[in-house]
Amino acid sequence: MARKKVTVVGAGNVGATCAHWLVSKALADVVLIDVVEGLAAGKALDLAEAMPVIGVDAKLTGSTNYEATTDSDVVVITAGVPRKKDPVTGKFPSRDELVKTNQNIVGEVTRQVAKYSPNAVLVIVSNPLDAMCHVALHESGFPPERVVGQAGALDTARYKTFLAMELGVSVKDIHGMVLGGHGDTMVPLPRHTSVAGIPVRELIAEDKLQAIIQRTRNGGGEIVSLIGVSAWYAPAAGTVEMVEAILLDQKRVIPSAVLLKGQYGYNDLFIGVPAVLGANGVERIIEMELNDEEKAMLEISAKAVRDVVSILGY
Ligand code: NAI
Ligand code: 2OP
Repeated sequence: MARKKVTVVGAGNVGATCAHWLVSKALADVVLIDVVEGLAAGKALDLAEAMPVIGVDAKLTGSTNYEATTDSDVVVITAGVPRKKDPVTGKFPSRDELVKTNQNIVGEVTRQVAKYSPNAVLVIVSNPLDAMCHVALHESGFPPERVVGQAGALDTARYKTFLAMELGVSVKDIHGMVLGGHGDTMVPLPRHTSVAGIPVRELIAEDKLQAIIQRTRNGGGEIVSLIGVSAWYAPAAGTVEMVEAILLDQKRVIPSAVLLKGQYGYNDLFIGVPAVLGANGVERIIEMELNDEEKAMLEISAKAVRDVVSILGY
């Protein structure tokens, strides 16, 4: 059987690390694409030279040319620009300017990958995440089940990490989920969190649990304050968890940014909810029963996403 093919657009921190996790797990051949001449080719070659050491026969290609991406099974989009000072004016871009810049980048990338891989599943990582999923859906013309955003996998991983650290138990035994948009209005669900099936509130004091929820909400910012740029290992691991579920048709239930069509009371909005990921992309959206408090938190998150989506002008 031919190996699967995954394209990762953006060979920066997150994109290159996605390629690294993908080939480490021998999941697929990987094509890295970046606008910067030599960057994708160089990183792909460097990774290819590691394959004899780890004993994996993955083919790695790096290019600025989308022809190399032809017939990918999955395309991961990490291209974008971070929020940084303009070297000329010394000013930070406004949120709207940054949204528009990344809309142009993700729009152009999407048109290219859709042309060469019309049957691929698109996994969006570029920020602002939920809005960029709208851009990818709009520009690709793909059905919504083949456009999915990564945020919940990362936010959930951070939540589980902090719980495992606090409780001194294996990360494997923490079960839980974080819903909502990717931002500080995300919605961790302590009522649905357990340690090997034991409700988490039986094991941890409420103030400690709330502190972990707050730390999860600020998970991205915590890394930025330490390194000066945003995270990449955990974001890439979360992304590859989703790609693996799609490539191997695992039917994993992973909180993902998906287009809601009436579920949870929202229409035509990408937001993070539990989704079954398999060979067809988003195969099912699971509608959980939320209590009033959880619904109110989801509404705050949905409003924050809608505010950004409105900037796109669709
Ligand atoms: P980075 O700056 O290291 O890499 C971005 C890459 O995109 C650069 O190499 C750049 O040359 C490339 N690029 C820019 N325009 C392009 C274009 N038109 N075509 C192809 N490539 C292009 O940034 P990093 O840290 O890898 O982050 C990438 C994106 O992912 C950012 O938008 C970031 O905010 C987002 N992110 C999202 C997360 C999530 O959970 N959804 C988590 C972490 C980052
Ligand atoms: C993160 O959560 C910035 O989205 C990025 O680390």
